[in-house]
Amino acid sequence: MTASGLAAAAPTAVICGIGAHVPDRVVTNRDLVARLDTTDEWIRSRTGIASRHMVPPGTATSDLAVEAGGRALVSAGGPPPDAVVLATTTPDRPCPATAPEVAARIGLGGAAAFDVSAVCSGFLYALAAGSGLIASGTARQVLVIAADAFTTIVDPADRGTAVIFGDGAGAVVLRSGRRDEPGAVGPVVLGSDGRLSGLIEVRAGGSRQRSSGLPAGPGEEYFRMRGRETFRHAVERMSAASREAARAAGWRPADVDRFAAHQANGRILSAVAAELGIPAERALSNIERVGNTGAGSIPLLLAQAAAEGSLAAGHRLLMTAFGGGLAWGAAALVWPDVKAC
Ligand code: COA
Repeated sequence: MTASGLAAAAPTAVICGIGAHVPDRVVTNRDLVARLDTTDEWIRSRTGIASRHMVPPGTATSDLAVEAGGRALVSAGGPPPDAVVLATTTPDRPCPATAPEVAARIGLGGAAAFDVSAVCSGFLYALAAGSGLIASGTARQVLVIAADAFTTIVDPADRGTAVIFGDGAGAVVLRSGRRDEPGAVGPVVLGSDGRLSGLIEVRAGGSRQRSSGLPAGPGEEYFRMRGRETFRHAVERMSAASREAARAAGWRPADVDRFAAHQANGRILSAVAAELGIPAERALSNIERVGNTGAGSIPLLLAQAAAEGSLAAGHRLLMTAFGGGLAWGAAALVWPDVKAC
């Protein structure tokens, strides 16, 4: 699916605000080494991560989403959004969706609000959904939030995942605009392969296990990932989707000023950038400080890069993500003149 296929006359979603939030609590590699069979050297060299943020007891995804969403609204100014799309892997509860509560707490009660479930590709899927609401005339302003309290589903005793994931959220505000404006979203490329759903999963807690009448097996309530196999698919899918989005935008690799890939693993990021021929210095990264924050990864990265000045107005930005589902995506846009909050 490419957004460039939309009718020329249709309104286009334009990014006009961005915000992010991470919980205060920082967990360093040294903290993990104290309780897991691992080393700081292994974590840094195999993942590129030195520390990550973790929600304190009792904090939920909605708390992160409210903070990030509120900041994005401050960044945007302008009229209140009439829709809220929340990408998350870790909803507050299995039912109902978390977005309506987030909308109400931000002061957007009455707005359309729903969750998008696409694991680490959630932000790009939610961006596409929000852009579609604008293109169809259903909404004029959309708040797209991506938030995960990933540490709440990670097995603290699993060294293969506990060292990677952290918590965080990012959000953008979309307004109705023109396709040739900076910030106009698109082209967007999305894809999935459900045959490989078992590579990344939480087995228990859904209708499959509940209808069996059997309790969850040991550890089945936790997130499991077959890391080595996932690694290969991540590089292949993010490279291919990025190529497709860049081609649809009419960009060669040399035209890409900034590359923002889902912060899955430092080695994956380097491999994808190299595969695409994008110089390493154009690849944005914050994985060393925040780890893999799931759906929130890309908007958190963009907000931090915009605040620090490494992402600036006029930059041709290529984004890509990959995760459970399997689901992946990529999107191209020219970064607008927005102040990150
Ligand atoms: N500390 C020390 N050793 C560890 C470890 C840790 N934290 N985690 C795993 N190991 C060990 C394994 O047990 C294994 O030991 P063995 O050879 O004795 O069996 C060895 O390191 C290699 O394991 P492997 O899983 O092949 O490591 P890896 O280099 O692939 O790194 C990941 C593991 C998870 C970091 C990596 O596979 C990864 O990032 N995968 C993709 C993640 C991703 O893209 N997810 C999708 C988006 S969320």
